[in-house]
Amino acid sequence: MLQKWHVFMLYTSVLPVASASKHRAQPCVALAAALPGLVIFPNSTLYDTHNFYWSERQSNLSPSCFVAPNTAQDVSTAVKVLTRHNAPFTVKGGGHTPFEGASSIEDGVTITLASLTDITVSADRKTVSVGAGNRWINVSEALDPLGLAVVGGRSATVGVSGLTLGGGISYFSGTRGWACDNVRNYEIVLASGEIVNASPVTNRDLFWALRGGGGTNFGIVTRFDLAAHEQGDLWASSLIWPGSVNTTLIPLLHDLLVRNLVADPAAHLYFILVNDASLGGYAVVSDQFHSTHANISPPAVFSPFHDVPALSVNTRIANVSRLSRDIEQAFGGRTTWWDTTVAATASPNLLLDIVPLFEAHVTRLRAAAEPVNSTMTPFMVFQPITLNILQAMQVNGGNALGLKPEDGPIMIVQVNVMWSSPLLDAAVEESCGRLIREIDTLAAERGARSKNGYIYMNYAGRPQDVYAGYGLESLARLRKTARKWDPNGEFRKLWKGYFKL
Ligand SMILES: Cc1cc2nc3c(=O)[nH]c(=O)nc-3n(C[C@H](O)[C@H](O)[C@H](O)COP(=O)(O)OP(=O)(O)OC[C@H]3O[C@@H](n4cnc5c(N)ncnc54)[C@H](O)[C@@H]3O)c2cc1C
Ligand SMILES: *[C@@H]1O[C@H](CO)[C@@H](O)[C@H](O)[C@H]1NC(C)=O
Ligand SMILES: *[C@@H]1O[C@H](CO)[C@@H](O)[C@H](O)[C@H]1NC(C)=O
Ligand SMILES: *[C@@H]1O[C@H](CO)[C@@H](O)[C@H](O)[C@H]1NC(C)=O
Ligand SMILES: *[C@@H]1O[C@H](CO)[C@@H](O)[C@H](O)[C@H]1NC(C)=O
Ligand SMILES: *[C@@H]1O[C@H](CO)[C@@H](O)[C@H](O)[C@H]1NC(C)=O
Repeated sequence: MLQKWHVFMLYTSVLPVASASKHRAQPCVALAAALPGLVIFPNSTLYDTHNFYWSERQSNLSPSCFVAPNTAQDVSTAVKVLTRHNAPFTVKGGGHTPFEGASSIEDGVTITLASLTDITVSADRKTVSVGAGNRWINVSEALDPLGLAVVGGRSATVGVSGLTLGGGISYFSGTRGWACDNVRNYEIVLASGEIVNASPVTNRDLFWALRGGGGTNFGIVTRFDLAAHEQGDLWASSLIWPGSVNTTLIPLLHDLLVRNLVADPAAHLYFILVNDASLGGYAVVSDQFHSTHANISPPAVFSPFHDVPALSVNTRIANVSRLSRDIEQAFGGRTTWWDTTVAATASPNLLLDIVPLFEAHVTRLRAAAEPVNSTMTPFMVFQPITLNILQAMQVNGGNALGLKPEDGPIMIVQVNVMWSSPLLDAAVEESCGRLIREIDTLAAERGARSKNGYIYMNYAGRPQDVYAGYGLESLARLRKTARKWDPNGEFRKLWKGYFKL
């Protein structure tokens, strides 16, 4: 009898919701009742402020409402309301993912973490607790004046959350690994609404999974306790060369990958080939950093690059805040990012032979852009994952990325495009996919496919099978961990966007 009554109660509480579920504002109304003042409907002037993303493709979607929790407890309440209403939702950290629907949603709820902005430095200066709604500029503006830094993002407005959950390449990665390797503790809201911590001593399986395994499968992280280190200003140099010297520079980049960055792990760089009308065609761009070099003349590790005549060189010694603003990329416009990795070979030929594949992609995109008078700026970015980085990733039981020192070094090859006409979205995606396949095929022919074909999640295109690149062992462990912490698969079912296990 009791049981029957219980079942009846369940039905009465579920039925009105189920019948109203066609009415899309219903979960929003329930959220507004549970979290008064924290739900933003489309009729509010704040709606457009929240529906503003780095990539215009994300801003183009319109959620039924935003909910902006102030505390982990509010996040927990939101999760409970959403699961009770079987309501599709997404989570916005900094909102920097280029593809639509990664942290935006049409006809669903967006939980925006923008109000979780606490930043607290521990008395011993070793830990900085960072609310999940912060951007890296907020962290560096708090830490620079204290002479502290964390292993975090390089660009000012990128979100702490997404970057850290997917990996996180930093100025300091050569000595300390990626951002995910420098989290001491995560505070996280589970599918049940329970708030737990994950660290090397508490819920260790969850801690491991959150180290690069991505957010959307495990829970909503509300606070990251990051390891801090003593840090003064950095040496930095931004160089632009004509495209024609790529054949001189790429062998120097190859030397960095296999040798020179290992010998001087305080050095860090990325290296870009770009085709842009304003640059008159192809150019090579590199931003270089050194976290201990205190003299304006280039450190030995980068001096061969500085010996190649450049169109412009901007060398400075500056704090993290200034550097991260310098390299900031403006909001707006249509963008896509894709990536793959290749293993280092004995000679630079593999990297050199990727260049004509990029040039063919540029030709395809220019041909597509012309008839619709669209801007079109294709990039190819090389980012080294050197042996010292792979070694630093192994601390505290290692991360979830499936990368081991014996499989390295590897090079991330990133394919980014910026354009203006929405008519070109499909053509751009198709060309990027083709270029990535061609790079993978070339690498395979040279015996230089990286082990598992690792793809960095935070640079990946929407159709890419990111988790396959973590390798079978890591993938099985991630799936098992997701099942343990979300046993009913609520997040798998309701949390839309990004990459799902
Ligand atoms: C201009 C620019 C510069 C960049 N620079 C770097 C760099 O230097 N190094 C680097 O490694 N990467 C860099 N990236 C890539 C960056 O790491 C990813 O775009 C990352 O996803 C951004 O995080 P976000 O919080 O801003 O994104 P969002 O789009 O808000 O989030 C990404 C995903 O994580 C989920 N998520 C967000 N917050 C949480 C949370 N608290 N808990 C659980 N899930 C959550 C979202 O639902 C979404 O699915 C850069 C990107 C851009 C556009
Ligand atoms: C905005 O919409 C919500 C939900 O429909 C409603 O409750 C609220 O009263 C509206 N506010 C204004 C100012 O119209
Ligand atoms: C984060 O930094 C930006 C840029 O400086 C600033 O506009 C914003 O107010 C900061 N956020 C907080 C919570 O301080
Ligand atoms: C960083 O350095 C600049 C000068 O380059 C200075 O104006 C700024 O105040 C510094 N920022 C912080 C947060 O210390
Ligand atoms: C690379 O350099 C070669 C030789 O100078 C040149 O022909 C080619 O256009 C360059 N490619 C790019 C992408 O800059
Ligand atoms: C092409 O676009 C530019 C702006 O990007 C504009 O100034 C120009 O008038 C456009 N030309 C045509 C033919 O539409």
